[in-house]
Amino acid sequence: MAYQNLITTVKDNILYVTINREKALNALNKDTLTELAEVIVYANETDEVLGVILTGAGEKAFVAGADIKEFSDYTGKQGEELARNGQEKVFNAIENSTKPFVAAINGFALGGGLELAMACHIRIAADQAKMGLPEVTLGLIPGYGGTQRLTQLVGKGKAIELIITANMITAVEAEKIGLVNHIVPQADLVAKAEEILSFVKQRAPLAVAAAMKAVVASVNEPDGYQVEIEAFGKCFETADFKEGVAAFVEKRKPVFVKK
Ligand code: CAA
Repeated sequence: MAYQNLITTVKDNILYVTINREKALNALNKDTLTELAEVIVYANETDEVLGVILTGAGEKAFVAGADIKEFSDYTGKQGEELARNGQEKVFNAIENSTKPFVAAINGFALGGGLELAMACHIRIAADQAKMGLPEVTLGLIPGYGGTQRLTQLVGKGKAIELIITANMITAVEAEKIGLVNHIVPQADLVAKAEEILSFVKQRAPLAVAAAMKAVVASVNEPDGYQVEIEAFGKCFETADFKEGVAAFVEKRKPVFVKK
């Protein structure tokens, strides 16, 4: 995998993706979005990959938003297309992946950058990270799912305040309102993400996928309870369920085979 705007590598079943436009604070231009869409497909299709860690190059920014310079002369129709395309191919594609994406927020996560982090399943922030949705300062609103995902994560009151004031919050404030799962020193960011994925990697992969699908269904499907019931039932038909129970009874570690 060779990309212009991403650095990618796979190690110990983890795909590491670094958005690499440091001079533009890793802003998401069209090419970067196209490459992200490709890498998401790769992550989903490759058995070797069990989880993804997404971060930004350098120590200043995770992603400072959509690339403002690219859409300065857009029409309404082009704006709609930008949002629809980005949502479908990148932001929703991450959320709907049944492999966990962990956002390692190493600095500014603003606008489309915070939207990218919010599309991920788990967010870890470096202690100096700052987050916000500043779109209304530009005469815009969030377009990559921000109005929806921020509301889901922190509730309507906090979401409206953050979006219409456009104010940035610190990692500490973000953790307090449930926007990030953990705060760590910058140097420990990737290690913390690896630690979380190391637990997931030991669990039954089909059950992990089914659980993620059911949780996401709570916001994206009309009846998440029904999705859970069906996914729960399917688990009983897997060899990994039999192995998990046998290992418990025999007091040993399970060996899951993703069947
Ligand atoms: N798009 C394009 N370029 C960007 C950018 C962005 N979102 N954010 C930063 N850059 C560029 C700057 O233009 C600058 O480039 P030059 O050196 O060529 O001038 C470089 O990155 C460094 O940025 P600053 O000089 O501004 O750095 P700073 O330390 O003074 O400020 C900052 C940092 C507060 C993050 C500031 O860069 C900033 O406010 N960036 C824009 C944040 C923003 O508004 N994001 C929302 C974008 S709209 C969106 O995302 C829409 C959507 O939902 C789909």
